[in-house]
Amino acid sequence: MPKWTHLGLVAFLLLSAATAGAADIDWWENAALYQIYPRSFQDSDGDGIGDLKGITSRLGYLKEIGITATWLSPIFTSPMSDFGYDISNFYDIDPIFGTLSDFDALIVEAKSLGVKIILDFVPNHSSDENEWFEKSVNREEGYDDFYVWDDGKLNEVTGEREAPSNWISVFGGPMWTWNEKRQQYFLHQFQVKQPDLNFTNPMVREHMLDVLKFWLDRGVDGFRIDAVPHIYEKREANGSYPDEPISGWSNNPEAYDYHDHIYTKDQPATVDLMYEWRAYLDAYQAENGGDSRVLLAEAYSSVETLSAYFGNSTNLGTQLPMNFQLMYLDGYSTARDVVGSIDYWMNTMWRDHQTANWVIGNHDTIRVADRMGAHKVDLLNVIVNALPGASVTYYGEEIGMSNVEIACTGDSCEDRDGERTPMQWTPGQNADFSSGETTWLPVNPDYVRYNVQTERGVARSSLNIFKRLQALKSSSAFLSFKEEGGFSYEAVTEQVLQIIRTNKISEEYRILVNMGNNMEILDGLDSKTYEYVLVTAYSPRYPGNTVNLKERIILMPYEAVVLRWHA
Ligand code: GLC
Ligand code: MG
Repeated sequence: MPKWTHLGLVAFLLLSAATAGAADIDWWENAALYQIYPRSFQDSDGDGIGDLKGITSRLGYLKEIGITATWLSPIFTSPMSDFGYDISNFYDIDPIFGTLSDFDALIVEAKSLGVKIILDFVPNHSSDENEWFEKSVNREEGYDDFYVWDDGKLNEVTGEREAPSNWISVFGGPMWTWNEKRQQYFLHQFQVKQPDLNFTNPMVREHMLDVLKFWLDRGVDGFRIDAVPHIYEKREANGSYPDEPISGWSNNPEAYDYHDHIYTKDQPATVDLMYEWRAYLDAYQAENGGDSRVLLAEAYSSVETLSAYFGNSTNLGTQLPMNFQLMYLDGYSTARDVVGSIDYWMNTMWRDHQTANWVIGNHDTIRVADRMGAHKVDLLNVIVNALPGASVTYYGEEIGMSNVEIACTGDSCEDRDGERTPMQWTPGQNADFSSGETTWLPVNPDYVRYNVQTERGVARSSLNIFKRLQALKSSSAFLSFKEEGGFSYEAVTEQVLQIIRTNKISEEYRILVNMGNNMEILDGLDSKTYEYVLVTAYSPRYPGNTVNLKERIILMPYEAVVLRWHA
């Protein structure tokens, strides 16, 4: 055989092996997802609050940093009692954010850039200012049972009427509130202004499918389903609601943790509802073409429960039940702790479904810089992008944004504001988030250093590390994750996490992360020669340096590196 033919054959074999993995991966399985909090991403009209036109103008940035799909926290008509998680009209855009035609323009731009758009879908409740609720209060035909209503019960000792059960709402205080007009209690798992819809009513489920259809028709690629565990509540055959047992986790009877939520979270019917919605999306795709439409699920539940929401071979459920395990780590967490968190997911979800996703932040959780320490932001970005599966980035984590301490004013105090401050784009006024005099939340004063424009020009900035990580996600070794032996992870010492990604033929990456504040000495990790392809700010190495892993290597405190071997 002439030499070139031989080489050609080898090249062909390598190439086909390298791409074999990619072929059977659907886009969401390996996606870089990005959460935008619309109030805080980009303001276009100077009122100090972010809006749709602002987001549209920044979609190019998402493309630049390698994002596959972005999910937007709610943009629908709302009195903003819970900043949009209290929807008064599921079919329209709140004027603060713009109009339906602004939304259509956003979709056009997103499609031309190839960035997918996922909307927040808040089915559990509406605003009490939604016309559905008003109709229900007035017992209008068709709407009588649209929400969860009950007479309550008579206290035999005091002779007074009281709530149907002892349930406590997620934000504290009773889950039942008396409505004077209708003369009944209504249920709200969250705020009083967020009455729960009654999903045992088929009309409600139909309305919700209609909402999905409305936005699918406008071109969205999927939904993040809000508050999934809270959709159904237990109701006995006799119509009563059973009290929840005391958990022992709290001494405050008004606090959510006071009870074990065995009757108000993760009820069996919720699993079926996930199947129903997934089937609806799949049917929509079959009919209309295009890529898979996806469901992300927000569920603070056990991994076993998330596995049920994901479904099985007969019943498909939500593709991305969000994995919050890594959010429970803190500044003291070692590499072994990280491995423990990863294991909890992998030992169930990977074993049973070959799927993974990794979330390290959202609008309800203090930022990584505050939870784990500013020097660990890059480490966490490396970990979530180096692990197989989808990564989920909360806006600003890619530039190392941190929380702002926000003083409470008046009687309203939102303790989650700290992680919702404006995106930091440039060192200019208001970080170029808004041209207005003031912004709805203060811009973090650290924006002069931590901002997109400045970080673009700093070789080892969080932003540049993040971008390189996204590029790696599409390399053949990273795309081979569903193949036997395509990846592994372990704590090689108490403080050093090693992740390996390989196509087992031509390319292998070793990602080493030192979670600790000591130098770590590693001997004889492997016998091949590797090149440093990514180094963090704490690394004394340079990209292009090489090392044979037969030799000792030293990792500095908080250093993370990506090493590449290729045939
Ligand atoms: C989810 C949202 C949170 C909201 C709650 C009620 O947990 O992430 O921000 O307050 O649902 O809708
Ligand atoms: Mg509910």
